[in-house]
Amino acid sequence: MEDVLARARVVMARIEELAAVSETTDGLTTRTFGSEAMRRVNGIVGGWMQSAGLNVCVDGIGNLRGTQTRDGRPLLLLGSHLDTVREAGRFDGPLGVLTAVACAEAAANGRYGALSCRVGVVGFSDEEGVRFGTSYLGSDVLAGNPFDAARLSLVDAGGVSLAEAIRAFGGAPETLGADALDPDAEDGLVGYVEVHLEQGPVLEANGLPVGVVSAIAGQSRFSFRFAGQAGHAGTTPMGLRKDALAAAAEFITAVETHARGDEGLVATVGQLDVKPGAGNVIPGAAAGSLDVRSPRDAQRHAACARLRAAAAAIADRRGLALEWREVQSHDATDCAPGLRKALAEAVGQTGCRVLELPSGAGHDAVALAHRLPVAMLFVRCRDGLSHHPLESVTLQDVAIALNVMDNFLVSLAQSPPSAR
Ligand code: GLV
Ligand code: MN
Ligand code: MN
Repeated sequence: MEDVLARARVVMARIEELAAVSETTDGLTTRTFGSEAMRRVNGIVGGWMQSAGLNVCVDGIGNLRGTQTRDGRPLLLLGSHLDTVREAGRFDGPLGVLTAVACAEAAANGRYGALSCRVGVVGFSDEEGVRFGTSYLGSDVLAGNPFDAARLSLVDAGGVSLAEAIRAFGGAPETLGADALDPDAEDGLVGYVEVHLEQGPVLEANGLPVGVVSAIAGQSRFSFRFAGQAGHAGTTPMGLRKDALAAAAEFITAVETHARGDEGLVATVGQLDVKPGAGNVIPGAAAGSLDVRSPRDAQRHAACARLRAAAAAIADRRGLALEWREVQSHDATDCAPGLRKALAEAVGQTGCRVLELPSGAGHDAVALAHRLPVAMLFVRCRDGLSHHPLESVTLQDVAIALNVMDNFLVSLAQSPPSAR
């Protein structure tokens, strides 16, 4: 245990170091797709990957990739994302990348004996979808999922298109397809395994340090815009107004009311942009985001249809125009039975009770599941808090997660699991 605690200490120190790499100077952590902070973080983590004996590159969408040299064995990918939400916690993403680097170091030091697969580590460039409103940019490219022109023409708050952001970071939007994982070029793909903090309260409530993810909830994201009429706040009678923000407020309340009454569904308006944005001007436009999730796809689809109809009815009644766009939609994703079973056995070997639990948060594993078997290990987090600077996991729990990953890799050394 002393040895694994020492490795966990290194993981924690590295996570601390990355938390200081931010595109803001407010002492908080914000790293969005294609930012200078992402370039710096790729440089730092790339150095650690190289020290672990991996061949390192940054691909066309900005994913940091490190793999052991090809030698006929299939590739097992470990990792998570390096981008963050605004004012993020330290662990969402980096925990998975740094535990993966620790596994690569252990593999290089012979800890797992003769592994039946090569180890690769990936630090994804965009799991959160903060800058362009659409998540999994990095994992979609790695998986070779459709990446259409409409997506490349999405613009950020500063008017920069995704295609321009990719070029500015050193990639080429035209050749993203070439960065997809190719099973032939890798001598086969064993799967993708990600360690992530739970971001919810279940493990803590059960007194457990880790848990095995059974499935990841489906998720739809929309952008909407109510367009009314800006005007003078002092002279326009209430009955003659077309106040776009009042319409958005009514819609946001309708979203909350619906989700509260629909067991298992969660729905969030997390962004709102009001124009022209002055205290003495009636809002002429209000644009926002809507995020709808459920473990049951039928429930999510029904809720999305209902919420769209509610927005249209609000706009109609108030004499406003409504623009509505689906930004992305991902069905619920099951983890691969073979890898999941191997992870559960690896947890059991540590003496912990094995709890399998679903994930309400989205993960790169969703995008990768289109191409290869995926599995995830959750680590307990304090108070279930995440997407917040106070996000916290303990050194002891990280050590147990490493212990689980060691057991898992040793089991792979004996025989690769029959995955899906
Ligand atoms: C990512 O953390 C998400 O679930 O949105
Ligand atoms: Mn997140
Ligand atoms: Mn995450």
